[in-house]
Amino acid sequence: MSTELVCFNPACKKRYGIDEVLYQCPACDALLEVGNDFSSLRAEHLSQLWLRRRQSREALDVSGVWRYREMLPFVSSPAHIVTLREGNTPLLDAPRAAEYGGLGRLQLKHQGYNPSGSFKDNGMTAGVAQARKLGMHRVACVSTGNTSASMAAYAAAGGLQPIIFIPHGNIAYGKLAQALEYGALTIQVEANFDEILALVRALAEKLGIYLLNSINPFRIEGQKTIVIEMLDQRAWTPPDWIVLPGGNLGNVSAFGKALRELKQIGLIDRIPKLAVVQAEGSAPFYDLFQRSDRSQIHNVAKPETLATAIRIGAPVSWEKARFEVESSGGCVERVTEQEIADAKAIIGRCGIGCEPASAASLAGIRKLTAAGVIHRADDVVAVLTGHLLKDPDYVYRYHTGKLEAPGGVKLTSTFGNEPVVLPNDPEKISAFLEKRN
Ligand code: F0G
Repeated sequence: MSTELVCFNPACKKRYGIDEVLYQCPACDALLEVGNDFSSLRAEHLSQLWLRRRQSREALDVSGVWRYREMLPFVSSPAHIVTLREGNTPLLDAPRAAEYGGLGRLQLKHQGYNPSGSFKDNGMTAGVAQARKLGMHRVACVSTGNTSASMAAYAAAGGLQPIIFIPHGNIAYGKLAQALEYGALTIQVEANFDEILALVRALAEKLGIYLLNSINPFRIEGQKTIVIEMLDQRAWTPPDWIVLPGGNLGNVSAFGKALRELKQIGLIDRIPKLAVVQAEGSAPFYDLFQRSDRSQIHNVAKPETLATAIRIGAPVSWEKARFEVESSGGCVERVTEQEIADAKAIIGRCGIGCEPASAASLAGIRKLTAAGVIHRADDVVAVLTGHLLKDPDYVYRYHTGKLEAPGGVKLTSTFGNEPVVLPNDPEKISAFLEKRN
């Protein structure tokens, strides 16, 4: 078997050429995934090769995605690749967050350290490589902000025209600012993410624009490297749990696929449980897991959350995600706006920080340990998906007691840290500092 596109629907499994411009199976409409033949790969050889590449100065070896290029064999020529040295994100110990989450130890894989400040860069470098391989000139995405920032950066760096569609008034300013700065043609539509995605899927086909949402199977291939790099950092010792926020559910699909492939090659001997955390007002995947019949997701028509990155009511990758979570033995949790806000402040106090959606990971861990699903002694990695500075407005409001949940309920600034205004008077300033010592 060579690399090809395979329908994800187990009842269909039709195969298509790797260079066909397809996002869904023409026969049954299900999503496609890249089918890789890894039968000739040897675990020991790969782990040594990837370790050696850390000493190289070559751009593709320095990239935390392309260092693992044996796992992304769809790229036929390095000339197609645009790298901004993505990946290479740290795995950080965070004792205070561990304590808050009810754990003895917690490691945070911080994808906010990426070039555009979110995990999207791992996938985007792969999606843009495929766009260039196909000879596409224009690329588009619908986004709650991070995908558009990332796509704009990689398209600009690769000489493609980025066109982004975003929900009017509902993306964090840090993300919009990035898209504008990277030169994306930016279209704000008065609709929510799910409505715009349906619109753009139809438009892309009509106008011959290459779609780089997470329905694009090559983006999923790139996002596999988040987990590959994390396991490399842990010397191929899998944790008990990997916890991550869920919106459109592309990332958990990518994690599950990576874990399956790594196990098949023999780089790991077991698959960690995947725990997906959603915001209470945008939790169709959580609802699905509450039911015994999980054959159909019920979309949330008007999703709400201040964690705008995951304000999604009709997740396109839900079937892939269901498969990966179930087959890992994992679970799905939901958290309130207050829980997200407080967990985020705790991650900040670790000297780390993240954007609101990312903090759903820690908020979810706290609930899952309280419920006895995750145990204090478990080995847990939480993925922080985006950088603190993506949404400074949220941060300022929280610390100054002005953060309101959708619907207008005021949130409590449990760990608030309001700035103090003092006169230009050394006596008063020193008296204040002595009092606060
Ligand atoms: N965290 C952040 C910071 C995100 O930007 C997203 C998704 C997610 C988590 C959820 O990941 O969709 O793979 O389940 N943001 C997309 C965007 C939808 O347009 O930037 P997912």
